Parts: sequence; structure tokens; C-alpha cells
Amino acid sequence: MVKAVVLGAAGGIGQPLSLLLKHNPLVTSLGLYDIVNTPGVAADLSHISTPAKVVGYLPADDGLAKVLTGADVVVIPAGVPRKPGMTRDDLFKINAGIVRDLATGIAKNAPKAFVLVISNPVNSTVPIVAEVFKQHGVFDPKRLFGVTTLDVVRASTFVAEVLGDLSKAPSITVPVVGGHSGVTIVPLLSQSSAALPADFTQDARVTLTTRIQYGGDEVVKAKDGAGSATLSMAYAGAEFAEKIIRALRGETGIVAPSFVHLESDPASGAALKKEIGKDLEYFSAPVELGPQGVASIKPLGALTPYEKTLVDAALPELQTNIDKGVSFISASK
Ligand code: NAI
Repeated sequence: MVKAVVLGAAGGIGQPLSLLLKHNPLVTSLGLYDIVNTPGVAADLSHISTPAKVVGYLPADDGLAKVLTGADVVVIPAGVPRKPGMTRDDLFKINAGIVRDLATGIAKNAPKAFVLVISNPVNSTVPIVAEVFKQHGVFDPKRLFGVTTLDVVRASTFVAEVLGDLSKAPSITVPVVGGHSGVTIVPLLSQSSAALPADFTQDARVTLTTRIQYGGDEVVKAKDGAGSATLSMAYAGAEFAEKIIRALRGETGIVAPSFVHLESDPASGAALKKEIGKDLEYFSAPVELGPQGVASIKPLGALTPYEKTLVDAALPELQTNIDKGVSFISASK
């Protein structure tokens, strides 16, 4: 029995993500919450002939507490998306407060749930959730994940495009590490499971890396003011949620990159800090999942000199983003 909850379920990501979770036979109960339209979305999804029982709540009548009760996995895509010319950090002002309030609801009503944060800027919203949980005395770093899967999905697709064979995309894995915005997104193309062509130049590698880092901008531009990635994000969110659900049901050996607290597994977290040469609190790295959440954080492994410069460039920005999230909560105490 697995109860999944989507907070922000009526939005551009929330609706297709809820559809994909309803489609997942491992989900037996699906709770939807938003400030608008959830009864309609829930009624619609409830007619699909899959096991999950769907309920939808609005804020009235303690809807947040009701939807969260009994949750095993909570996915948060609530908040405003980017418009052309905006960075993810520009969203902070609005989304920080939304995520803080939803995290408070989780701390009170589902403190043991696995929490998957999609709302941007992920590099700051994940620390916000952690600080709220700490205030409530329920923080377990093993259970908190920033969803960076879309960067991983994009990397697989773009590498398959370079190889001229999209049918390879589902089986290609490229670790993407660091964080989830601009320069903090670091694809480790040298570790791609499918080798790039032998004549792939350094210039082409830089172009591909930049495309993965700024893939979100392609969508923001094409949508021309109507928002950012929603369908590909829903796909990526559902894929990561499925891995989390399989892990909590006892499957071992599942590895997926995610933006996690480096105390989630102190030994491997300390080793990663040593590898990157900085005492950061959070970093996105391939994480081995287990029934308790983070089982271990994998080392980055051998980096090319170019990849090392990318990691180094990500570190100061990551520190700033993390500090911004932490101080948002300490300032509002
Ligand atoms: P959207 O505006 O279409 O949907 C957001 C939903 O959140 C709306 O239905 C809104 O009513 C709801 N919402 C607002 N305040 C709420 C609250 N207090 N409680 C519950 N629900 C609330 O936006 P979209 O496109 O779905 O994006 C959502 C977030 O996901 C944005 O922050 C966006 O930047 C982020 N995102 C993250 C990605 C990632 O890779 N992690 C990729 C793409 C977007």
C-alpha cells in the first residue's frame, strides 16, 4: 500500500504528474492538493481503471492536513514557473513562502514521508524544507530529495540526438551533478553510458554541456510567456517518484541523481565533500536509494579537467543558493 500526494496538483506539472502517478500500479492511494481545481482533477483521474484511489482537497476544511495524513511520498510542484528572461532564482520571493507553508503541513501531518521537491529554485527550496522540519524536530535528511531528474532526462535525450538514434535515449544514462540551475547543473558526459563519437570535439562537448545546463530556457522561450517545462518535468518527476516508491517497498540497488543533504549518509557525504573540496551542506549526486531513503551518496568518480572546472564553477553559486534558503527560514523565526 503506497499513498502518494501531490501538492500543487492542478498546475502545469501537477496535472500530468498526477496522471502518471495514477497510471503507476504501485500507487494505491493518490492525494491531490492545490489552492484551486483539485476536486475536478481528482474526479477526472478517479475514472481511470488503475488501482489508486484518488482524493482531491482544497485549503478549506483543513484540506492540507487531510491530504497529507498517511502519505508515504509527497511530491511538491506548487509555485510559480519562469517566464522569458527570468532565472530560477527570480522565483524565490514567491515560491519560498509557498514551500515553507507546505513543508509546515508535512512536518505536522506526515513527518515520516519521503519529500520530493520540484518547486524552483530547488537549490534553495530543499534547504527551506529541511529548516522547517528542523524547527518541528522531524528532520530526517535521508527522506528529503530535490528533483533534478529532468536534467538527467534531458542529458539522455540530447546525447541520443548527438548519436543520431533517439531509440537509444531510454537506455542512456549520464550522471548530472551539482545542483538544479544554470552553472550548477554539471553533466558528466565522460561518464555517459553510451560513448560520444570518437571525433566529438571539445567545442561540441561545451555546446552539449551548455544545452543540458540551459535546456529549461529552450522550453521557456518556446512557450513564450506561458510557463516552463511541464510535460517533460511531469515525466521526470514520475520516474523519480517510481524509484523512490520501489526503494521504500524494499528494492535495493536503485541509483538516481538527486539534490540531497550531505548528512543523509554521513560517511559517503563526507567523502563527497572531500572530493569537491568544499564543505557544502547539499549537493546533487547519484544516490543509492533504500527503504529508509538515502542509503549512500556515490562518489563523482574520475572527472575530465573540463568537468572539474564546471564543478568548481558550480560551488560558489550553490553555497549562495543554499544560504538563501536557510536564512529565509531563520529570518522568519
Ligand atoms: P503552474 O503555475 O502551472 O502550477 C503551479 C500550481 O501550484 C498551480 O496550480 C497553483 O495553484 C499551485 N499553488 C500555488 N500556491 C500553492 C499553495 N500554497 N499550495 C498548493 N498549491 C499551490 O506551474 P508549473 O509549471 O506546474 O511549475 C511549478 C513549479 O515547478 C515552478 O516553481 C517551476 O519553476 C518548477 N519546475 C521545476 C523543475 C525541476 O526540474 N525541478 C522543472 C520545471 C518547473
